Amino acid sequence: MGRLVMCDHPLIQHKMTIIRDKNTNTKQFRELVDEVAMLMAYELTRELPLEDVKVETPVAEATGKRLAGRMIGLIPILRAGLGMVDGVLRMIPSAKIGHIGMYRDHNTLQPVEYYISLPKDVEERELIVVDPMLATGGSAIAAIDMLKKRRCRPTKLMCLIAAPEGVKAVQEQHPDVDIYLAALDERLNEHGYIVPGLGDAGDRLYGTN
Ligand code: PRP
Ligand code: URA
Repeated sequence: MGRLVMCDHPLIQHKMTIIRDKNTNTKQFRELVDEVAMLMAYELTRELPLEDVKVETPVAEATGKRLAGRMIGLIPILRAGLGMVDGVLRMIPSAKIGHIGMYRDHNTLQPVEYYISLPKDVEERELIVVDPMLATGGSAIAAIDMLKKRRCRPTKLMCLIAAPEGVKAVQEQHPDVDIYLAALDERLNEHGYIVPGLGDAGDRLYGTN
């Protein structure tokens, strides 16, 4: 089964409280999602493989470290996942970005796919799927399915908030994917919203409610 990793750094927890607050405006919300994504990317990359490399300092030769292994691809699920891209890119500037467009049908809560665009070398990259909300898990599962069908290697799913139902569903369907969260909430309500959650992430990011 994939790991469930809680990113519980104090800065993340502090910012998450402001993100949740219904009085936080669109500008602040967008900035904070960006900042939390950056901090989570720091945690998520903690175990990246390294190799030794020689470097000439102005004084002598030194042995340093550099990142080894597969290059990273970042896959935001539109729309709300876009709000996390710039923050992650500040930590991993060489990542290439693929986009998956998907929205939840309000009645059935089933994901509806409408777009996919991936970097040319996506099969060679280790992929991180990002979306602020993991509710039923339907969107994340469908996005990971779409990637695997194209022989890609999604290994990590990074979300701000999840419901236990969504975590369980992803772990069952994709046991090879680790899940990184800033918060694990209580449950879903009858409309499929995370309780207490933060409301509709896309609407709060883009001011569309
Ligand atoms: C939200 C969110 C996830 C999905 C989570 O997107 O950003 O993609 O819901 O719900 P699930 O786990 O039950 O699938 P939404 O459908 O609101 O689309 P949007 O980002 O375009 O607003
Ligand atoms: N999508 C959201 O944006 N918020 C939720 O609580 C659930 C799904």
